[in-house]
Amino acid sequence: MSNLTSVAYLVSSVLFILSLRGLSHPTTARRGNFYGIVGMAIAIITTVSNPGVLSYKEIAIAFVIGGLIGSVIAVRIQMTALPQLVAAFHSLVGLAAVFVAASAFYNPSAFNIGTVGNIPLGSLIEMAIGTAIGAVTFTGSIIAFGKLQGFVSGNPLVFKGQHLLNLILGLGIIALIAKFCIDQNPEYFWMIVAASFLIGVLLIVPIGGADMPVIVSMLNSYSGWAAAGIGFTLSNNLLIITGALVGSSGAILSYIMCKGMNRSFLNVLLGGFGGEQAASEGGAKDDRVAKQGNAADAAFMMKNSKTIIIVPGYGMAVAQAQHALREMGDLLKASGAEVRYAIHPVAGRMPGHMNVLLAEANVPYDEVLELDEINRDFSETDVAFVIGANDVTNPAAKTDKTSAIYGMPILDVENAGQVFFVKRGMASGYAGVQNELFFRDNTLMLFGDAKKVCEDIIKGLEN
Ligand code: TAP
Repeated sequence: MSNLTSVAYLVSSVLFILSLRGLSHPTTARRGNFYGIVGMAIAIITTVSNPGVLSYKEIAIAFVIGGLIGSVIAVRIQMTALPQLVAAFHSLVGLAAVFVAASAFYNPSAFNIGTVGNIPLGSLIEMAIGTAIGAVTFTGSIIAFGKLQGFVSGNPLVFKGQHLLNLILGLGIIALIAKFCIDQNPEYFWMIVAASFLIGVLLIVPIGGADMPVIVSMLNSYSGWAAAGIGFTLSNNLLIITGALVGSSGAILSYIMCKGMNRSFLNVLLGGFGGEQAASEGGAKDDRVAKQGNAADAAFMMKNSKTIIIVPGYGMAVAQAQHALREMGDLLKASGAEVRYAIHPVAGRMPGHMNVLLAEANVPYDEVLELDEINRDFSETDVAFVIGANDVTNPAAKTDKTSAIYGMPILDVENAGQVFFVKRGMASGYAGVQNELFFRDNTLMLFGDAKKVCEDIIKGLEN
C-alpha cells in the first residue's frame, strides 16, 4: 500500500508541475488547470484511502462544509475581488500549519515522532519553523485581505523604530525556537505563535497600495513554505513537493513583480523598508481643467486612424467592458486600423488580470503585447485608447522622486498622437497619485463607465 501511495503522490506531483507550466501561458492555461484538478483529485483520493485513517465521519463533514463554502465563494466572487480572496485563503493555509504543528507537538506518537517530551530534534525544528511561517502567513494575510477589501486603510502605517522592533521580534523568534527545541516546553511553542502573529501584522501594515501585488504573491509563497513545513511534520512527500512548488513559484513571481515595479525585493520582504515615501499623496486637488470629448469624437478619430493601441486597466475589469472592447476593436480592424493591446505587468489587481479578461472576450493572443514588446511603438501610434487604467500610464513614475510609484516602468501612452482616457471622473488610481497626463494637449477625457463608453463608440463606428 505504501508503494502505491508513493507512486500516486509522484503522479500528483508531476501533474502539479505540468499544471504550473500550463498556467504560464494563456494558450495552455486551460490544460494547466485540468492537470491541477486531476493531480489534486488523485492526491485527495490517495490520502483518504490510507489505512491509517481512523474515522471517515469527521473527514466527510469537513469535506462537505469546506466544499460548500469554497463552491459558493467561487461562484459569487467578482473577478476584481480575487486578490483579497487569495489573501484570505492563504491565511487559512497558515493557520492550518499552526494547528498541525500543535497537534503533532501534543500528540507526537500519532505522527510517529516519539512521545511527549521526547520528540527528536529534527522534528522539533521542522515543527517550530513551520509554526512560525504559518503564523506570520495567517496574520499577514488577514491584514492584506483587510487592506484590499477596504476594511483597513490602504495607506502605509509607519512609525519610528518599526524596523528595529521587527528585527528584535525576528531575533526573539529565533531564540524561542532554540529554547523550544531544547526544553520542549509548550509555553515556548505558544510564545513562538504569538510573536509570529505579531510580526505578521507588523510586516504588512507599513506596505502601501502600490506594493500590495507583491505582498499578495509573497504571502502566497509563505503559505507554500508553511505547507512544506507541515509536509515534513506529517512525513508527507506530496505536501513537501507541492508546498515547495507554491513557495518557490510565489517567490519567483514576487521577484518578477518587484522588477516590474522597480521595487527592491528585500525591502518589500522586510516590510516596507524604505517605502515610507509611499504615504499619503492621496490624489491632491488640481485646479487645471482637462479637455473632455465624447464617444462620437472618439469613434470619428479612431475610424480615421491607422494604428491604435488599447491600454486596459482596473476600470475595465470593474465595468466588465472586455466584450464591448473587443467588439470595438473588431470594428476598427474592419475599417482598416491595426489594433493592439498593451499590458502592464501590474495592470488591474492581480498578475495576469488583464490577460484573463481579454482571453475571456476572445481577443487574439497575438494582439496582446507586454510592456517591453510594445512600449517603443507608442511614438509611432495614432491613438492610445486607455480604458480604466491610470497608475500604469502615469509619467510621475519617471519624473517625481517623491511619488509613491516612482521607479515603476510605465506605458508611454503620452507619446501617441492622440490619447483617450476612459474613466468616470478625475479620481486618481490605486496608488492615490494625480495623473498629469489628463491635462496634456493631446489627451481627451471620455468620462463614463468603461462598458457604456465602448458601446457608445461602437454605435458611432457603425453609423
Ligand atoms: P488604477 O491606477 O487603479 O486606475 C483605475 C482607474 O479606473 C481609476 O482611476 C478609476 O477612475 C477607473 N475606473 C474605475 N471603475 C471604472 C469604471 N467602471 N469605468 C471606467 N473607469 C473606471 O489601475 P491600473 O492603471 O490598472 O493600475 C493598477 C494599480 O493597482 C497599480 O497601482 C498597481 O500597483 C496596483 N495593484 C496591482 C495589482 C496587480 S498584481 N495587478 C494588485 C494590487 C494593486 P474613476 O474612478 O475616475 O473612474
